[in-house]
Amino acid sequence: SGKLYQFKLVLLGESAVGKSSFYTVYIQTLYIGDLDDVFQAKILVLRFVKDQFDDYRESTIGAAFLTQTISLDDNTTVKFEIWDTAGQERYKSLAPMYYRNANCAVVVYDITQPSSLDKAKSWVKELQRQADPNIVIALAGNKSDLSARRAIDSEEAQAYAADTGLLFFETSAKTAVNVNELFISIAKKMPLE
Ligand code: GTP
Ligand code: MG
Repeated sequence: SGKLYQFKLVLLGESAVGKSSFYTVYIQTLYIGDLDDVFQAKILVLRFVKDQFDDYRESTIGAAFLTQTISLDDNTTVKFEIWDTAGQERYKSLAPMYYRNANCAVVVYDITQPSSLDKAKSWVKELQRQADPNIVIALAGNKSDLSARRAIDSEEAQAYAADTGLLFFETSAKTAVNVNELFISIAKKMPLE
């Protein structure tokens, strides 16, 4: 019989980096059903996202909440309670409410916006100071599909992540590149005993 683990995950980052677009890709992935056949799932995700990616998504107000479940190998199921926070400055004071009991955090920046990496670094500092000391943090450089407008070097961000002890992926919510991989690697880093 399988084991079920439940974790609270918070998404943080400057407004418009793609946090909400990001989890939409993930939901779509999971709606496909059983992730046991990961290869099959990925093919479907790409199709799904091409049909449904929203170029005019509205900025999040307050925060959004959903739960999603991911099946790993060996009958292990990880359920994430995902808190998608609002990146606009006026909602900043709400963030501690969402990261306070979080087991994991995805801090998102936009590879075309240098200010968004500074903001991501300040979230990481705040998490390391104020969140659970065992929190697993992933840094996601999103919008990797916009390579012609890239303003942040991947090696530079990777080096920062390695120095700071963060998982690191460059992702695209638009094409779904690395979105599955990011969430699966967080699930695998959670204490599953
Ligand atoms: P707040 O809710 O204000 O904090 O913003 P957010 O981080 O949730 O950003 P959101 O998901 O609303 O995306 C902002 C804009 O970026 C939207 O127009 C999206 O369509 C676009 N976007 C998000 N991810 C990507 C991506 O990977 N590639 C491209 N090209 N555009 C993206
Ligand atoms: Mg949003």
